[in-house]
Amino acid sequence: MCGIVGYIGEKNSIPIILEGLKRLEYRGYDSAGIGIINTTECKVVKTKGKVAELEKLINKGSIHSNLGIGHTRWATHGEPSMVNAHPHINEAHTIFLIHNGIIENYATLKKGLQEEGYKFKSETDKEVLVHLIDHYLKTKNNLFQAVRYALNEVEGTYGIAVIYKNEPEKIVVARKGSPLVIGIGKNENFVASDVNALIAHTSQVVYLEDGEVAEIYKDRFHAKTISDENIIKEIHEVDLSIDEISKGGFSHYMLKEIMEQSDSIFNSMRGRLVLKEGISKLGGLQGFEERIANSSRIIISACGTSWHAALVGEYMLEEYTGIPVEVEYASEFRYRHPVITKNDTVIFISQSGETADTLAALKEAKKKGALCLGVCNVVGSTIARDSDAGVYIHAGPEIGVASTKAFTSQLVVLALITLFIARRKNLNMSEGQEIIHEMHILISKVEAILKQNKEIEKIADEYVNCKNFLYLGRGYHFPVALEGALKLKEISYIHAEGYPAAEMKHGPIALIDENMPVVFIAMKDSVYEKVISNIEEVKARKGRILAIANEDDDYIEKLVDHVIKVPKSINMLQPILSVIPLQLLAYHIAVKKGLNVDQPRNLAKSVTVE
Ligand code: F6R
Repeated sequence: MCGIVGYIGEKNSIPIILEGLKRLEYRGYDSAGIGIINTTECKVVKTKGKVAELEKLINKGSIHSNLGIGHTRWATHGEPSMVNAHPHINEAHTIFLIHNGIIENYATLKKGLQEEGYKFKSETDKEVLVHLIDHYLKTKNNLFQAVRYALNEVEGTYGIAVIYKNEPEKIVVARKGSPLVIGIGKNENFVASDVNALIAHTSQVVYLEDGEVAEIYKDRFHAKTISDENIIKEIHEVDLSIDEISKGGFSHYMLKEIMEQSDSIFNSMRGRLVLKEGISKLGGLQGFEERIANSSRIIISACGTSWHAALVGEYMLEEYTGIPVEVEYASEFRYRHPVITKNDTVIFISQSGETADTLAALKEAKKKGALCLGVCNVVGSTIARDSDAGVYIHAGPEIGVASTKAFTSQLVVLALITLFIARRKNLNMSEGQEIIHEMHILISKVEAILKQNKEIEKIADEYVNCKNFLYLGRGYHFPVALEGALKLKEISYIHAEGYPAAEMKHGPIALIDENMPVVFIAMKDSVYEKVISNIEEVKARKGRILAIANEDDDYIEKLVDHVIKVPKSINMLQPILSVIPLQLLAYHIAVKKGLNVDQPRNLAKSVTVE
């Protein structure tokens, strides 16, 4: 989704901003732009293309400036085009503004401004903001105040950075619902929508909260609420290195992230399991242990891949804790007037911790008095900070747009939470120890699957030209089927659907013929025999079958066209293993189709708009 980078200091802002924008490319975007102000000129350069294109355009001139802002745009209102790209500019070419989010009342604001004589060039909702700030600059004596007054009229979400020719010593930023961080340097300061854009320069950051505005100089910054109250902001140290956000020799971030899952899964459980007592220790839930264990209901809310993790979590929690669990798309939860009580615990799962729908659902649940737990990857993200308590998944930065290692780490953390609650209920110590033992030996099993990368690549050859796929699984592997189908469609643009295997005969079976590959996740669990029957049903209709099966399953090999074997684990942990071949399959199919798997079309890494 849109990215913001800004610089003020003693260096040339242009290479710093371009490099920052490149680090945000993974978020997904369709146009880019940069605006700089120096003593002799104010310049905006935009392109409908990529940041590399912007770089070529800007390098044509020899511009130098200590103050600048840059943006990558993911279109919401108005198609990707030069005119709709940011920065937006006032008529006098003195104010440059970049914005993430959506201005919901832009039509009303635009009408008022047009009546005042303001001319609009773009189709976007954002342009109103720059004119509104221009309007207030006529009566307020500085940019900071003008921005504050303008934002008081805005309904919607924003993360903005604004610079002004007449005040070239500052950047003004503000946030509501769209992340914004200030990077603190020595005689230089930075602004970004994501810390990844800053960490090459500083590890000290200040997170702006909703309803806050700040003016940033090269050597200091001041923050206020938009209703003009002074606030003191805390400086945080970010524990992130450039190595962690580089491709590390892999051709794509997605492959790197799939292949590093033995590490990421280990990091998710590291220091959190106590074998002797058969318990999990989750510091982030401290003080809430009894309230969680005594919840009358657990709701898990999330979007996309995180929602699939939530579904696996439902199976885990109900099996081991006996507490009823409901899983809900955050986008539905926020609008359907859900019945929530103070006895409910609501878990919000989000890799980025910034997904707009999940954040809104969190606010709704908090308002209704439920205990809200965050399960996030990005440390310091909004959902992590706004939750009452929570558990980080510690998967490390996930840059590939298609979520892979975050999913398996989410499952690990859900297993830890399950153990955490179950041991406070009916699960005895030796049962807890058995789960912990299985978690400890998971890593070598993950490694064994990753070693099959080459064979999975060969299998991908057989399926690269298929137009439709069906993914089927039962029990714990129904959500895995959904996740496998999502991975394939989002990066290869092949239509794929996931279903509970038994549902096949209630409709999707009509699609099956020799051109329709069906991927079965057929683990040796309590529903194995049933899944085998479903495989027979597909065979009877000449369907092509790829099965993900357990290592000791010789029988299935005779039934299906291709099989990928995974080691056996206990039912609760098996999805962590069965999903990995599906990630690799999707990856290789997309690469063989010549697609850029790290930046799939139309998708954004962090969906900060509704
Ligand atoms: C799929 C994918 C998305 C995200 C979804 C939620 O590969 O990445 O479906 O899972 O947008 O994002 P988070 O987890 O950041 O809330």
